[in-house]
Amino acid sequence: MTYVVTEACIKCKFTDCVPACVADCFYEGENMLVIHPEECIDCGACVNECRANAILPDTDPRAQIWLELNQKYASIWPNIVEKLPSSKKAEDWIEVADKYETHFSEKPAQR
Ligand code: F3S
Repeated sequence: MTYVVTEACIKCKFTDCVPACVADCFYEGENMLVIHPEECIDCGACVNECRANAILPDTDPRAQIWLELNQKYASIWPNIVEKLPSSKKAEDWIEVADKYETHFSEKPAQR
């Protein structure tokens, strides 16, 4: 089992989940995070930290379609181990549905 980040993270990227992770298994894209499925120790500590409710266990049927995306980009994007300031507009994106189609970015975080 692992936890996965779903499209609810896109353009929110609050990063509140990152300091909760004792396994440092979050990876950062331009506008979303993912979890490395093999590094996640299944503690679930990140889940309630996310204001966007973006993190689900892979046992949840809604998580399945995001598992492959987490696996793929966790091996491409850089590791993130601390909370970063989120965009001023992040709150505006919490309630937006279906963000993947039009707002997902394959680019890694630029820092
Ligand atoms: Fe994304 Fe939620 Fe973490 S919006 S960065 S999964 S706190």
